[in-house]
Amino acid sequence: MKPELKVGKIGVVGFGLMGTQITQFFAQQGYEVVAVDVSEEALKRGMDTIINGKFGLKRLLERGKINEGQMEEILERIKTTKDFTELSDTDMVIEAVYEDLGLKLKVLREISNIVKSDAIIGSNTSTISITKLASAVKNPENFLGIHFFNPAQIQKLVELVKGLLTDSEVLEWVKEWFAQTGKVPIVVNDSPGFATSRLGLILGREAILMVQEGVATPQDIDIGMILGYGYAMGPLETGDLVGLDTRLRSLQAMYEATGDPKWAPPRLLIQLVDAGYIGDPSLKLGSRGGIYEYFGQERASQVLKKMGVRR
Ligand SMILES: NC(=O)c1ccc[n+]([C@@H]2O[C@H](COP(=O)([O-])OP(=O)(O)OC[C@H]3O[C@@H](n4cnc5c(N)ncnc54)[C@H](O)[C@@H]3O)[C@@H](O)[C@H]2O)c1
Repeated sequence: MKPELKVGKIGVVGFGLMGTQITQFFAQQGYEVVAVDVSEEALKRGMDTIINGKFGLKRLLERGKINEGQMEEILERIKTTKDFTELSDTDMVIEAVYEDLGLKLKVLREISNIVKSDAIIGSNTSTISITKLASAVKNPENFLGIHFFNPAQIQKLVELVKGLLTDSEVLEWVKEWFAQTGKVPIVVNDSPGFATSRLGLILGREAILMVQEGVATPQDIDIGMILGYGYAMGPLETGDLVGLDTRLRSLQAMYEATGDPKWAPPRLLIQLVDAGYIGDPSLKLGSRGGIYEYFGQERASQVLKKMGVRR
């Protein structure tokens, strides 16, 4: 079923790190957004992040990118709730709950039972099969992977994933619509980890293994990849940005999907998460830090900035 080229209201389900960024992006684009989470704390924390966070609205205000009136309008467009029925009049819903197959299937079923029959549903999953997730929704032809990148308000890329049953016209429409919002969409066929996570995770996993083996420090590994290979950010700093808990769930999902030991989560990653080191504390509230904090190092990007090294 081809939707009209019009999106009025957007739903975001899962108001964690990505859900808040996606919500802010759409609200800044002028869309009304209903953000749903089961946790009251997540809803409060998410709004605080949208206002005061590292990539939040106050920063935009300070930099003169928006004025106070615009900030107010953006905030007025966002509604947070624990009530899934508020999604009933949305035209598109992005699911962004934890990277867990069982949870995503349950949440997608719930979303699908509430939204209009022609609504588009996208999952922000990093690794899980879109075809498998589609089994939970009533209209699998209107379902696809809509994979944003962190920070979603800023990163231009959106990876669109075509499941076996995704309608090609729907996919084309979503691609065109995202291009209008200033994003650069790429289209990938359903396969574990799609195009981006498959490569990003294998690099991130290997980098943690190297730290575990004592090959080099996080800082030196990251500087090596930034200056040696032209990466904008090293794989270990990227892991801290993504969240080590999310990284771990993604590796577990890849391992489950493929059975290939090359995706087995490194012991150090599991231990860091068990010890409460779940990522950059300025992004993951309540975190003791990421791999950089655990090893007491300054982030590679900061070191290079201080040295005046242009990248
Ligand atoms: N972190 C990243 O950089 C990144 C980048 C791209 C994609 N992703 C993907 O986005 C998704 C979310 O990742 P995240 O890092 O934002 O996770 P997160 O842990 O920060 O947030 C997950 C949120 O889901 C909520 N939630 C749990 N069960 C729920 C339910 N039944 N209904 C509604 N909300 C529920 C939690 O309360 C939490 O607020 C994952 O699929 C992840 O793989 C993450």
